[in-house]
Amino acid sequence: MIKSIKVLGFRNFIKDIFEFSPKITVIVGPNASGKTNIMESVFLLSTGRSFKARVEEEMVNYEKDLARVKGTSSGGTVLEAVVTRGLIDIGTQRPEKVVRKKLLVNGLPKRLVDFSGNFKTVLFGPWDMDLVTESPSLRRKFLDTVISQVDREYRRSVLSYEKGVRQRNRLLFRIREEGVSRSQLVFWNQLLIKNGDYITVKREEFIEFINKLHGVNSQDFQLAYDRSVISEGRLEQYKEEEVAAATTLVGPHRDDFIFKLENRDLAAYGSRGEQRMGILWLKMAELAFIEEKTGEKPTLLLDDIFSELDHKHRDIVMGLTKNQQTIITTADPHFIGNLKKVEKIELTG
Ligand SMILES: Nc1ncnc2c1ncn2[C@@H]1O[C@H](COP(=O)(O)OP(=O)(O)OP(=O)(O)O)[C@@H](O)[C@H]1O
Ligand SMILES: [Mg+2]
Repeated sequence: MIKSIKVLGFRNFIKDIFEFSPKITVIVGPNASGKTNIMESVFLLSTGRSFKARVEEEMVNYEKDLARVKGTSSGGTVLEAVVTRGLIDIGTQRPEKVVRKKLLVNGLPKRLVDFSGNFKTVLFGPWDMDLVTESPSLRRKFLDTVISQVDREYRRSVLSYEKGVRQRNRLLFRIREEGVSRSQLVFWNQLLIKNGDYITVKREEFIEFINKLHGVNSQDFQLAYDRSVISEGRLEQYKEEEVAAATTLVGPHRDDFIFKLENRDLAAYGSRGEQRMGILWLKMAELAFIEEKTGEKPTLLLDDIFSELDHKHRDIVMGLTKNQQTIITTADPHFIGNLKKVEKIELTG
């Protein structure tokens, strides 16, 4: 649970402190007042990453060299993230080089694997609708965000695997272009198989978990895991194509999953409303999964989702807000009119 955050030079905030209720906090403000930016800063303390920046320095205020977010959890842990553009103006002719991102727990620098997971969140925004219909990379990112919060070994494996794929692709390129020996592949193959296996097993576990949960409105939603297994045999089978393409063609970086409703492909056949329900089911599963695996209730972050939902679904989401710390943003306070006893943060445009 997060008690308060201090934001400095982060997006449109020069210097602000926000305090959160252990129950429900509603952030109200007009468009462009900074609601999503607050969510982003909270999510940054949770995962060490942004959910929207393509490059992290986008989080640094236009006028500043450095963005700092510092938060205190209910247990007293202090989490801090500092993001820079890589350079800081120190008044001399040449700006000084600095690290682009620093993550700290109780003042001690941590690697990403050790920073994330200290404070757990489930984020739900309008963009989540894209998970049903858009590209597989979004779905893989979703799996990584959920499982990473509960499993340090998974976080480590994903980082090591992704780095391994980049290196292996470079080697495949050199084999094709420069005739470098294929024997060097053995090392990368072993590394990818070891980490890839772990990733596949954990993704499978999550998907099995979610498939056991009941759907919203007792509709039967399921996820079908479309896994790309990595093994000696499969790498052997694709080795010529891999060299020709200079790309690693098998492994969990090619995984996907498909939403099914009553056994039909939700992306192809589902109505927009049914797809929304599928996402709601997925988010409820995410909450349940994190709680089951860690014994802790994650903080629920709802960014501007009410205008997307009809009455019935709004009520379902409202029901969810009672079970754990929840932070809600909305431009339109009438959506949350029937919530009593909430902490309010009002932003002005
Ligand atoms: N690096 C930055 N420095 C300064 N301002 C920024 C930076 N990045 C984004 N902003 C500005 O922050 C403002 C608030 O953005 P934010 O997405 O948080 O608004 P919002 O309240 O969620 O609005 P909406 O209701 O439209 O979703 C925007 O006007 C945006 O241009
Ligand atoms: Mg917003």
